[in-house]
Amino acid sequence: MRKSCSPILKGLHVTALADKLKDSPLWGKINYRLEPKGEHLSPHRESLDIHIRYNPIENQDSPDFHSKPHVPQWYPVVKDLPEVLPLAAAVFTNVCADMLGSVFLINIPKGKQIYPHVDKSWNSTYFQKYCISLQNEGQKGACIFEDGSAFAPKAGDVWRFENDVVHWFDNTRGDDDALIMIVNCRPIMAGVLSDVYGKEVRDAA
Ligand SMILES: [Fe+2]
Repeated sequence: MRKSCSPILKGLHVTALADKLKDSPLWGKINYRLEPKGEHLSPHRESLDIHIRYNPIENQDSPDFHSKPHVPQWYPVVKDLPEVLPLAAAVFTNVCADMLGSVFLINIPKGKQIYPHVDKSWNSTYFQKYCISLQNEGQKGACIFEDGSAFAPKAGDVWRFENDVVHWFDNTRGDDDALIMIVNCRPIMAGVLSDVYGKEVRDAA
């Protein structure tokens, strides 16, 4: 069975981006992931987002904004944070991807967490998900999975992870905010093999 997470890369240069993000006014401009859905509180309610690339903003009022297939688009904020581009490119090339999905920055403040959840948007299910750690002082923040696997990344580490397994990010013991960059992309082998042979082969790739 495929593990819920595995290391992909180490030592990416993330300090410039992490320093720029401290106390940045760019956090929290787009908050729909943090808001309650009906009577249910969002698992992301204690975190902050910067959405860099996702479904084009002009589609945002559509009721199927999160579920409908789309070609993701860079949001204007990328001009303020061009440091994300070589990091996204490093993941993209390392996994031999042929399509780049969403790119989000997430701040899990010290003492806070992202609560257990499964990601269900089209972007989350069509693409493979990768986490670049930008800041995680003392590796006290950790992404944990229901099956018992976990990773507590150093800044500059990149991990693949499965978001159809219940997972959460615990920074409740953290001395500083944990900053992560989520890059979704579709590895060529995953796409080709799953189209030809089915999901079992994709999982083995
Ligand atoms: Fe998630």
